[in-house]
Amino acid sequence: MFITFEGCEGVGKSRQIHMLEEYLKQNKIKYYLTREPGGTLVSEQIRNVILDGRNIAMADECEALLYAAARVQLLKETVAPKLESGELVLCDRYIDSSLAYQGYARELGVEFVEKINDYAIKNFMPDYTIFLNLTPEQAFKRKGGADKTDRLELSGMEFHKKVYEGYLDLSKKYKERFIVIDASGEKDETHQKIINALKEKGVI
Ligand code: TYD
Repeated sequence: MFITFEGCEGVGKSRQIHMLEEYLKQNKIKYYLTREPGGTLVSEQIRNVILDGRNIAMADECEALLYAAARVQLLKETVAPKLESGELVLCDRYIDSSLAYQGYARELGVEFVEKINDYAIKNFMPDYTIFLNLTPEQAFKRKGGADKTDRLELSGMEFHKKVYEGYLDLSKKYKERFIVIDASGEKDETHQKIINALKEKGVI
């Protein structure tokens, strides 16, 4: 089984993945955890290029292609062999991040992003995608709030709202695959929801 985790910034994704790991370890369930962009030596170097603050000139198309390049390397080097040997693979972000961030928020369009990713991932779509559902406003509030007078913070918020809307659209388009988890409650509540959903789907 191939399970991916998605959500906007600050929704508690890393913490939830960590809590799931603890559960899997306690229950002696074997798994392989990786993340995007990154997860291999080559992909981590691509990650550094993408996230480097000096690269302000990067074209949106270049960004989308770099994410896809990092993805195909991760897939060929680790994810595909692990899946083929029957392991449970967990990935922190995957194709849906590209669809939500580059397709919707950067406005490259879902079709364009799907097309370039077809080369990258072929038949390796996730079996299930856990989407931690929390609006960017809620996430910012939880963090202590964005500065409402700061132009950049505000334009940042517009971008993150588009990402969020994108995820909601994707969760409708791929409703068989998407598991939408309300992440507005306490972290233990969210954790329990994830465990219940994975049990219900027969993943664990
Ligand atoms: P990271 O620090 O890993 O963020 P997070 O902890 O929120 O997962 O940075 C990854 C950033 O890259 C994050 O802002 C989402 C973005 N991203 C894309 O825009 N497209 C993609 O395809 C992927 C995988 C990530």
